[in-house]
Amino acid sequence: MSPTQEITLREVGLRDGLQAEERVLSTAEKLSLLRALAPTGLRRLEVTSFVHPKAIPQLADAEAFLAGAEKSPGQIWSALVPNGRGSERAALAPAIDEWTFFLSASELHNQANVRMSVEDSLKAAVQVAEAAAGAGRSISGVVATSFVCPYAGPTPVEDVVRVARRLYEIGYRRLLFGDTIGAASPSMVRRLVRALQDALPQAELGLHFHNTRGQAPANALAGAGEGIRLFDGSIGGMGGCPYAPGATGNVATEDLAWLFEAEGYRTGLDLAAMAAAARTAEGLVGRTLPGAVMRTFEEASCGGD
Ligand code: COA
Ligand code: ZN
Repeated sequence: MSPTQEITLREVGLRDGLQAEERVLSTAEKLSLLRALAPTGLRRLEVTSFVHPKAIPQLADAEAFLAGAEKSPGQIWSALVPNGRGSERAALAPAIDEWTFFLSASELHNQANVRMSVEDSLKAAVQVAEAAAGAGRSISGVVATSFVCPYAGPTPVEDVVRVARRLYEIGYRRLLFGDTIGAASPSMVRRLVRALQDALPQAELGLHFHNTRGQAPANALAGAGEGIRLFDGSIGGMGGCPYAPGATGNVATEDLAWLFEAEGYRTGLDLAAMAAAARTAEGLVGRTLPGAVMRTFEEASCGGD
């Protein structure tokens, strides 16, 4: 198989998944989830967030978590870093190899999420990039609401390309595009990916899908068909508040892994270990998770007719 068929799945459950779960996990519980992920083969993990503890209480224990966390050989850890204060905290955490800066393509969503204009976020992006360079860490950028904004409706492709180009010029060579409210469709994905590839042929592009309308696997496959090789997922499909209708989490990482393997791509992941990790996640968050592939492993262990 050619190396171009190799797909990287980045596990963001400990960050994006947990931040939207109702139940606040203890640091020890998060560490047990990290341990459950070790045998899966997932190499890229977003493990926490250096955001304001009041903005995301679930991740207020970033420092304590990292103090107890053990990195498996070959793993690359990232964490969200939203501003200068976040980069000061990240600089003190040597285990965090990559700092993820995020902003929204939509002005209204950016204001709601980080209380800044997009232009001010781009200034923060410069600060974070400079601090990361000073601390010897790599960076990636995430553009949220790249397809649809919950406040402004569909996001024009030009707006996404404009923000992506600015991030790239600042030094963000790895850029991921988020379908924050899970409202994209495959044709939207193809349109955006083609526009980004035209504008930024040297960038490493990735996609971050939420599965609100069940279309994340179809969208990921559409992205892979256009040449995208980096996708985010959350083990078991963690995320989303069970009490907020329509708010659902990232697509389950193991569901993406199953689909890509079935379609002839190579993920290098152990599906049985992923299903086991998804069940661990389910026990910790205390609710049935939406991941589908994990169920097939339960059935298999029951045998049957
Ligand atoms: N970590 C810890 N504390 C922080 C911080 C950070 N990254 N950024 C700011 N603070 C503190 C400041 O030190 C300041 O404290 P003080 O009042 O004791 O001096 C206070 O927060 C206010 O600082 P300000 O710069 O005005 O920040 P803010 O309150 O406008 O918050 C963000 C801006 C971006 C940090 C905040 O909105 C945030 O963390 N949002 C995260 C949203 C998120 O994670 N969404 C999900 C991911 S897509
Ligand atoms: Zn997300």
